[in-house]
Amino acid sequence: MTKILKVLAVFCASFVLIVACTQTEKPEATNQADTNANAKESKTPVEIVSGKDIYVTNCAKCHKEDGTGGKVEIEGKTLKADNLTTEKMKKEPDEEYFEYIEDGIPEEGMPAFKDILKESEIKEVVKYIREELQK
Ligand code: HEC
Repeated sequence: MTKILKVLAVFCASFVLIVACTQTEKPEATNQADTNANAKESKTPVEIVSGKDIYVTNCAKCHKEDGTGGKVEIEGKTLKADNLTTEKMKKEPDEEYFEYIEDGIPEEGMPAFKDILKESEIKEVVKYIREELQK
């Protein structure tokens, strides 16, 4: 009789131990999954917003998807958006692009993007114009 009780006691003890162990392990595991997810989340915006996305969203309505620009009607005004693919535009240095994009050319209808795009995004969009539209 006492032997059976002892076996039972050991059995119960080990059961409690197993439960205790799995319970202390679980929160650790989820925590790790959480930190992984957080790490991924904080990286995503940088990866998703490509130069192309920035261009299509902000520039294509005037300069066209292929960068050739031309006449566009925006809010009742006719603008002549520069063709960004010409030899002349290929030769203009990046610094000039940054200036035009940041400050715009208000009297001609080119908007200023310094409050809309981050510096890194302006760099990405110029890179896209260089590598894809001007190639
Ligand atoms: C609302 C229409 C509009 C949008 C949107 C627009 N532009 Fe323009 N952009 C113009 C017009 C119009 C001009 C021509 C200004 C002029 O005649 O001097 C211009 C000129 C430029 C120039 C100067 C070209 C030169 O002569 O050196 C660059 C570079 C440029 N745009 C890039 C961009 C980029 C990049 C974007 C998106 C981030 C963008 N533009 C969005 C209308 C627009």
